[in-house]
Amino acid sequence: MTLEELEPKAREMIGRYEQPRAAALPLLWLVQDNLGHISSEAEFWIGKQLAMSVAHVRELVSFYTMFRMKPAGRRELRVCTSLPCQLRGARDVLARIETHFKIRPGETTPDGELTLSEVECLCACELAPMAQLDEHFIGPLDGDTLGLLLRGSRIPDPQPFLSTGGPVISSRFRYPDGAWFETYLADGGYQSAGKALLHMTPDQIIEQVSAANLRGLGGAGFPAGRKWSFVPKSSPKPRYLVVNADEGEPGTFKDRYILERDPHALLEGMLIAARAIGSHKAYVYIRGEYIRPARRFARAVEEAYANGWLGKNIQGSSFDLDVVIHRGAGAYICGEETALLTSLEGGKGFPRLKPPFPAISGLFQSPTIVNNVETLACLPFILRHGPERFAALGTLRQGGTRLFSVGGHVSRPGLYEAPAGVSLRELIYNHAQGIRNGQRLKAVIPGGISAKVLTAEEIDVAMDFDSLTAAGTMAGSAGVIVMDESTCMLEALLAASRFFAHESCGQCSPCREGTGWIHRIVRRIWAGKGKPQDLDHLLAIAGDMEGKTICVFADAAAWPVQSYITKFRSEFEEHVHTGRCPASREAVACRP
Ligand code: FES
Repeated sequence: MTLEELEPKAREMIGRYEQPRAAALPLLWLVQDNLGHISSEAEFWIGKQLAMSVAHVRELVSFYTMFRMKPAGRRELRVCTSLPCQLRGARDVLARIETHFKIRPGETTPDGELTLSEVECLCACELAPMAQLDEHFIGPLDGDTLGLLLRGSRIPDPQPFLSTGGPVISSRFRYPDGAWFETYLADGGYQSAGKALLHMTPDQIIEQVSAANLRGLGGAGFPAGRKWSFVPKSSPKPRYLVVNADEGEPGTFKDRYILERDPHALLEGMLIAARAIGSHKAYVYIRGEYIRPARRFARAVEEAYANGWLGKNIQGSSFDLDVVIHRGAGAYICGEETALLTSLEGGKGFPRLKPPFPAISGLFQSPTIVNNVETLACLPFILRHGPERFAALGTLRQGGTRLFSVGGHVSRPGLYEAPAGVSLRELIYNHAQGIRNGQRLKAVIPGGISAKVLTAEEIDVAMDFDSLTAAGTMAGSAGVIVMDESTCMLEALLAASRFFAHESCGQCSPCREGTGWIHRIVRRIWAGKGKPQDLDHLLAIAGDMEGKTICVFADAAAWPVQSYITKFRSEFEEHVHTGRCPASREAVACRP
């Protein structure tokens, strides 16, 4: 395949977007998927296709971690060492892989067969310790499975625990290969979309969603109906619906299952939302590592077009909707809604100052609503069963259920659908069957790695947005990371700080510099070279980052530092003063 041969496909891709440069990431993927890497010649070629400077193309290649400028091996093994995987032995797994193949991360075996990388959370923490081999997620990589990997044998598909009993979302998770169009239709699918398109006004849809108390389930928790109501009705510009499927918060793996197993629920939710805001074009931004979920969702999109649920005059209504799937390329920050829009327009994933909010000026400077996958997947239930029933499943101010990703040191990691107000204790001890190996609980992060940590004494708290805020932490993405008594909190903070230093987009100096300083100080303490003033320095740096940047990434990086050190100060002090770990775990080599 040559660059010239890719030109017809490139032209078709560019034609999907309102502005050519928005096709930058798709073109970079086109080149990498067909030619193996992005050469200087390819950068020049992409720049020419998009009327973009080669410097801008290079910026993109270097910003997004999944693009490579050199050829890789025939197979690619990406080992996750983020906190939930680390808690279940990822460091040992990586060490065994390194020893077996005699390569370090970033290297390829001499025969060109395998390239090894160490990566941050792939949002498959239920499989921890896990890795991605080409497009497949494999894990848990212990015992037999690791042996199969090292021998190059076929690894069976993982079978983690998944809720399949609903009531709102998970009932179709029982189909391992996904609930396809016929199945979805037989299950009452698209009834709600039909109602929204043929029998309801946009205001009526917004009223019902507001009455259901549906909150944004990507992490922010903003009322969904209210967010939609901010879209100006009089704007002459097109309106866009953008689906945030850039799931990336360590500890979270819920949207992936919706995309893979119930993609039509998301599509039906998109139709309802698009009708409510008057949008005729929707973009679905899927994280780059989600290759199989993206493929499955693309198949559902094809089915929906073929059956008259997308395109022109949907089901005889005068409503049109087109859907474009857009693949990210390995940048956690693109989960922030304005960074996602900048990325979608063909830029580095830099967040934007608000106001203006996207509802007023978002994608291509037009009114835009960005909704998370799970939020949208709740909509068919609300319109079908009524907002009262959805609201009654939750708390006074947050209706429905949530998909809770539970990982770390529990006996049964998995994805649990439970009422929004379920207690953290119930999630850990009833749903996830308690702490593994009879150990005692030490700490829990209730809402993804950005949330402040809770101690074992603080788990009698409801998991809805308001209760967790009142408890001094946050519900976030509902990624629950459980740590038992053997956990070294410094090691946990080391993993968190490495993640934030790695993922800062670098736009604001307090964040760019602060995350690096924090990581280096924590790493030095871990290496046994702590200084008496280190803990106060860490708290001071974290305090100086909070609220001082364009987006909340810096705040999210500061919160673990503040909460871990404050709640486990004596453990940190012992590290500093003795150079040893009081949790008495065998030390794991610190990787700069
Ligand atoms: Fe490894 Fe999430 S997949 S920490």
